[in-house]
Amino acid sequence: MKKMVVLSGAGMSAESGVSTFRGAGGLWDKYPVEEVATPQGYAANPGLVINFYNERRRQLLDVEPNKGHELIAELEKEFNVTVVTQNIDNLHERAGSSKVIHLHGELTKVCSSYAPNDPRYIKKLSPEEYEIKIGDLAPDGSQYRPYIVWFGEAVPKIEEAIQYVEQADIFLIIGTSMNVYPAAGLLNYVSSRIPVYLIDPNEVNVNSNGHKIHVIRKVASEGMEELMKLLSEKEKV
Ligand code: OAD
Repeated sequence: MKKMVVLSGAGMSAESGVSTFRGAGGLWDKYPVEEVATPQGYAANPGLVINFYNERRRQLLDVEPNKGHELIAELEKEFNVTVVTQNIDNLHERAGSSKVIHLHGELTKVCSSYAPNDPRYIKKLSPEEYEIKIGDLAPDGSQYRPYIVWFGEAVPKIEEAIQYVEQADIFLIIGTSMNVYPAAGLLNYVSSRIPVYLIDPNEVNVNSNGHKIHVIRKVASEGMEELMKLLSEKEKV
């Protein structure tokens, strides 16, 4: 089976009702990013940050995967698919994707404030545990914090993602403004010989680095429908 890597961003979940970050009405308009998504913001006001992510977690219970997530899961019938997502929601998994790398962490997990990437203290929350409070402690005695990669923090999963990207036979970029590194830099690891597709309803400025990118200017669901048609014409023969 050919190997396909999908790099997804907030636009992937937009049709499910999850806000994107940038642009009018984006989350970073409503909440100052430096207050809720940096280690400094967390140090200054942990309660505010914990509540911000409690709210995002509550939202998970109200949203469903959309057609775009479902079609990405369906790609597994024809391809060996690895989803590399910048999203912290669990909609790819809920749609049935079996291999998902979360570059920026996961809403459904919490971790130690002292050592966020220490696997011993990463805890998967059941929905009854979604509401984290100040005083909920990890086994190392630190406050449980959201298992989210904040601005200024390392992105430990990038190495694993690079390995899959380097091996890919097809690369798909969907619903990301390609503004945030190192995620956006993954394109640099894509072989120049393979097809690259980009699905986004808006223009995305990518440093294409010599790659010819096939742009599908549509929302995730419609764009995925078009891509499935294109791939079945090209790949199944
Ligand atoms: P952005 O909000 O920067 O970009 C969302 C992209 O989705 C834009 O290019 C939109 O045009 C596109 N879009 C909007 N609606 C869409 C739809 N229905 N279907 C498909 N695409 C649609 O989000 P990201 O690129 O994911 O990081 O942002 C990257 C990172 O920056 C996030 O993971 C987050 C953020 O700050 C952290 O929190 C660490």
